[in-house]
Amino acid sequence: MADLYTDARDEQTIEDVLLHGLSTQRAPKLRVLRIALARSLQIPTPPAEELDGGSMGGSEYALTRVTGAGLPADDEGRQDYDLAVRAMLSVYHGEDMFQGEESERRYRRYLQRHVRRGLQEIRTTWRPGHDFHGFLYHELFVGQAPRPARAELGQEILAGLREIGVSAQIRSVEDGPRISRYRIFLDDVNHYDKVKRGLDKLGLHLGLSTRQGILLQEDEDREREARVLALDVPRPRETWHTVPGARLRDWATQAKDVPILTVWPGVDVLGEPVYFDLAASPHLLVGGTTGSGKSVCLHALLLSLLWRLEPKDLQLTLIDPKRVELAHYGAFPQVTNGQIIEDIGDALETLDGLVDEMECRTLLLRQHGVANLAEGREQGRIDLPYVVVVVEELADLLFQSREAEAPLVRLTQKARAVGIHLVLATQRPDSDTFSGLLRSNVPGRIALSVRTGAESKIILDETGAEKLLGAGDMLLRPQAGVATRRAHGVRVSSDDIRLCLQNVRGRIQ
Ligand SMILES: Nc1ncnc2c1ncn2[C@@H]1O[C@H](COP(=O)(O)OP(=O)(O)O)[C@@H](O)[C@H]1O
Ligand SMILES: [Mg+2]
Repeated sequence: MADLYTDARDEQTIEDVLLHGLSTQRAPKLRVLRIALARSLQIPTPPAEELDGGSMGGSEYALTRVTGAGLPADDEGRQDYDLAVRAMLSVYHGEDMFQGEESERRYRRYLQRHVRRGLQEIRTTWRPGHDFHGFLYHELFVGQAPRPARAELGQEILAGLREIGVSAQIRSVEDGPRISRYRIFLDDVNHYDKVKRGLDKLGLHLGLSTRQGILLQEDEDREREARVLALDVPRPRETWHTVPGARLRDWATQAKDVPILTVWPGVDVLGEPVYFDLAASPHLLVGGTTGSGKSVCLHALLLSLLWRLEPKDLQLTLIDPKRVELAHYGAFPQVTNGQIIEDIGDALETLDGLVDEMECRTLLLRQHGVANLAEGREQGRIDLPYVVVVVEELADLLFQSREAEAPLVRLTQKARAVGIHLVLATQRPDSDTFSGLLRSNVPGRIALSVRTGAESKIILDETGAEKLLGAGDMLLRPQAGVATRRAHGVRVSSDDIRLCLQNVRGRIQ
């Protein structure tokens, strides 16, 4: 049985490297696969899940051909490196890949993602005909040369500012997980607008692409001191700190006196936890391109709730027409009927059912003379749970069945008081998916990175998300009328979900 899969482009890359790069067809493919692995491991953020499947025209590999598992050493460079590779991936992903069937499966999956990402990297930076050894030297060694130290970066920023006609001094620097915040003191108060207009230029000066721009932080100090401003300067990826799922667990399990539907999507640019009350949103849209971190963000929202709430307080309805992302949650007792809704017909039925539930609850509230579910629960008159409905890929749902829009709109209009809250995720932030009525009734927004300012506007009503760094970088405005904030998402893994499930089972028995 095969352990790893590639697609046709990967195979072409392997062939090109063998023939034009290493100038021999006789070398085992394993060499190319290992170079690809090495290249991928240099990138500090994990490779995307999209690399999981192979496809037509691709090939299949047994583990032996990649890591040499089980091979005796020979003079072609074949040798059993499996333990070493396993150890590297365990460290890289912070997950144990030595024990049990599940970890074995994960190991192979991660290995495939890395190899395929490495091949992608090779074909984006090298072409047959170019010097492959030079490429390797440059990519694998020179690229690792230390970046300018912080003091130097400060000097670079000041030089960049001078270039746009601004003279200033640096007051302080704070390092967050992905950015460093430079507090700048302008020599001339009138230069503020010059800075604002010149940010892209400043970014280019620092070798950042304009997409990964510097953000100007309108901070509190400015009110008091017009000459102070803060620049959030993104750092190179290799200096980023991931926010692990364990932190989310700590926040959620140690939180006291927070609203019942509090969620912790990530940390702010300086590393402090960011949280909000989903009930206050009262409905949320999560938008961003493929690979921007939407699913991981949904996991963070879900685990925030699952770590704290029992089935009597929380019922989750999970709709996942893509049938992949939410599969893990079927085993949680908080999930209605222990089922993830994947079929479109079922989804429609469920949404209609929720509208009925909403009407029933509205009546019940009226009979008990309470304004909303929170009040009813507080007074001990109503003991219904909150209902959180998650739709993973709104566009898919609406594309397959436009009828789904009507119950969604009704829910967003009226379900707040009765404790039903929607979280809608989409990779297609366009006006077709997120149309007028839905827009105006879903005030909570989380934007992950998108391609264009126009897409950012659809999600947030403002630009900015096109400048985000990807991998869970987000702008969030959890409620209408509050300021938009930048955050870096918690990286929830399937292990975090499993751990939470164990905990829930232990708690509920
Ligand atoms: N908060 C995060 N921290 C670090 N990496 C992340 C984070 N969120 C996402 N990623 C990376 O981005 C990849 C794609 O995330 P995913 O949530 O599947 O994107 P989407 O659902 O938008 O397609 C993940 O496999 C992971 O490698
Ligand atoms: Mg996804």
